[in-house]
Amino acid sequence: MSKASAKPIKPLHTDSIRTFYWTEDALFVLDQRRLPLKEEYFRADSLEKVRKSIRDMLVRGAPAIGIVAAIGVYIAFRELSKKAVSKITKAYLDKYMKRVKDRLSSSRPTAVNLFWALSRMEKIYKEFMSNLTSEELDKKVLSNLLMVLRDGALGIWQEDITSNLKMAELGASLLPEGWILTHCNTGALATGGYGTALGVIRRAFEVGKRISVLIDETRPYLQGARLTAWELSKLKIPGMIITDNSAGFLMQKGMVQAVIVGADRITLNGDTANKIGTYSLAVLANFHQIPFYVCAPSSTFDLGMSSGKEIPIEERSAEEVLYCTGKRIAPMQAKALNFSFDVTPGSLISAIITEKGIIYPPYEENIKRVLENRL
Ligand code: MRU
Repeated sequence: MSKASAKPIKPLHTDSIRTFYWTEDALFVLDQRRLPLKEEYFRADSLEKVRKSIRDMLVRGAPAIGIVAAIGVYIAFRELSKKAVSKITKAYLDKYMKRVKDRLSSSRPTAVNLFWALSRMEKIYKEFMSNLTSEELDKKVLSNLLMVLRDGALGIWQEDITSNLKMAELGASLLPEGWILTHCNTGALATGGYGTALGVIRRAFEVGKRISVLIDETRPYLQGARLTAWELSKLKIPGMIITDNSAGFLMQKGMVQAVIVGADRITLNGDTANKIGTYSLAVLANFHQIPFYVCAPSSTFDLGMSSGKEIPIEERSAEEVLYCTGKRIAPMQAKALNFSFDVTPGSLISAIITEKGIIYPPYEENIKRVLENRL
């Protein structure tokens, strides 16, 4: 682990929360496992280290995973360029690109942003290669390829920030005043900067709406208690951490005016995979007639899937449930089931906020229409 010190390639945002930054040699990822107690950056200067930072959740959140994977493609080719490979051929590079994509895409299965970003980087790679005439390549070609990949990854990062700001503006007008309940962490830490659902809350607060946040602690990784609470305190937005099982009681007492969450994958019919516990919140909100909003950029939609039944759901190690901050909290013989995500049916979602517009039911018609910019 190393402290943040090197000069970034290009500061893309001025957010006080810097989820990752990038130098010529490496990507520095804020190790979210250690927050809020320590702000330490992990130096990822190889394909395997970038993969580890995603797989072990040093960086997490659908958009952030996608951006880090895109930068990972650049880092992997930079790693290759430093090795003394005598003869580089097109065939060799094609094989290498495939390996890079396979390694990064096997890090986590549910957030579609990861696959979206890798496909886009592969397309950039293929376009560059298709312009080359000779089979054998020199170092100069490799250095040009590096520049193209670097710009491609920066483009993905920049687009995410732009989308976040747009969604925040649109969503802020939708949010009522009062107590807003959110789940997991969907802020700057989970994105390229600013945030999705938390970005909406942030913007609503900035424009003067009287808002307080109910923060689900989000067992077992505690994205809410550790990360969302940390971001909100930095931003001076009032909030209170609640246990995951408090939501029903608070809704029954009239203490929740709206729920807003992010997403890891949204299918054609509006079914939404998000952090485990989201589905329960949506059922409760529906019962209590409380608006339930999802906020996600277009890179989170999987239009190749017609319903949430097709979404692969990540199952993580039982140890994440059986241990808390390194200490065992369950009997030694106990086992645990640790699904990381669930799927909320589109029928329980009041609206989906995207950078292209707010999408209302019926989602089967409206998702495609809004994402394709049709009137
Ligand atoms: O397992 P995580 O922490 O990567 O899960 C994150 C979530 O479920 C978020 O709600 C989602 O990725 C949206 S982040 C803007």
